[in-house]
Amino acid sequence: METKLLTTSAKDIAIAAGLIRQGGIVAMPTETVYGLAADALNGEAVKKIFAAKGRPADNPLIVHIADLSQIGELTDDFPEKARFLAEAFWPGPLTMILPRSSRVPPIVSAGLPTVAIRFPSHPAAQRLIRESCPLAAPSANLSGSPSPTTFRHVREDMMGRADAIIDGGDCAVGVESTVITLLSDPPRLLRPGGITAEQLRDVIGPVTVDEAVCRPLREGEAPASPGMKYKHYAPCAQVILLQGGEDDFVAYVNAHAGDGVGALCDSEETARLQVPCMALGPAEDLEKQAHELFAALRGADERGWKTVYAHCPPQTGVGLAVYNRMVRAAGFCVIPLGKEEVV
Ligand code: TXA
Ligand code: MG
Repeated sequence: METKLLTTSAKDIAIAAGLIRQGGIVAMPTETVYGLAADALNGEAVKKIFAAKGRPADNPLIVHIADLSQIGELTDDFPEKARFLAEAFWPGPLTMILPRSSRVPPIVSAGLPTVAIRFPSHPAAQRLIRESCPLAAPSANLSGSPSPTTFRHVREDMMGRADAIIDGGDCAVGVESTVITLLSDPPRLLRPGGITAEQLRDVIGPVTVDEAVCRPLREGEAPASPGMKYKHYAPCAQVILLQGGEDDFVAYVNAHAGDGVGALCDSEETARLQVPCMALGPAEDLEKQAHELFAALRGADERGWKTVYAHCPPQTGVGLAVYNRMVRAAGFCVIPLGKEEVV
């Protein structure tokens, strides 16, 4: 398939909107990660997204809107808490799970009775939606790979697979949107992201965090969000998460230095590490760490690393989103560090 490379100019967005209206698929920038978009109300077009990504058919997609008036096409029930969240965080990196209207083809939601809705803040995504329609769009990576946060990443994964790719530069947030379901009471966080659990509670009161955010699903356990059950964000290299303070992290990594060993670390640790490393950002700057994470996971493979030791972030604020992606990239391999473990 020929893949057109487009810019965010008005002329190019019009071309992209035309491709969407004809049932094509277009990779578009958003403020979180790049998405692979199709007309959300055209089941045949949406099918192409699953094929291009190699995405399992039971993993539902998020529908992106650019005007609150589009909500009525997607759900018949937009409760008060959803309205409060929309006022506080839309446009922005928040996805809400609501009852699915019969107008949304079942394939979008992998047959679930619900639909995931997000209003992105990226101007190019908004313009594309306004000139076409609500867009179903998962992250624009090949299924299982780290989500694309730069034009180069999305080109690597989607050249020859999408009708067009829009170059919007680097994504500002760098991890995917926060996903919250409003079908449970209290509402439940299914995927942490740029909007934190603390921020959500400030607006609507109690919000629970689904247990599967930080641990693997148990044998036979049905996930609240199908995406939870798949291995995600994984580079080819084996990622091992090390949980502990800076001194213990540095000592453990240096004790395990060797061919093909690298580290994802805090900026403060780089000078002390005796293996090749990539700093995600200062220990205190979790927004920066979120922004760098996916590029670093891809970078580990580009550098030919076979084993990657990553320093576990705190599980609060945006740190929870970073932890959630890292622990999945690591296949839930976490080593708690105490002095006695460093041999
Ligand atoms: O920031 C984002 O959310 C990006 C950009 C492109 O908007 N999109 C994204 O989509 O991350 P995707 O498909 O990679 O992740 C969507 C997640 C999956 O874990 C999926 O299982 C979950 O949301 N999801 C979608 N619809 C759902 C539903 N109806 N019920 C429960 N989980 C749902
Ligand atoms: Mg994804």
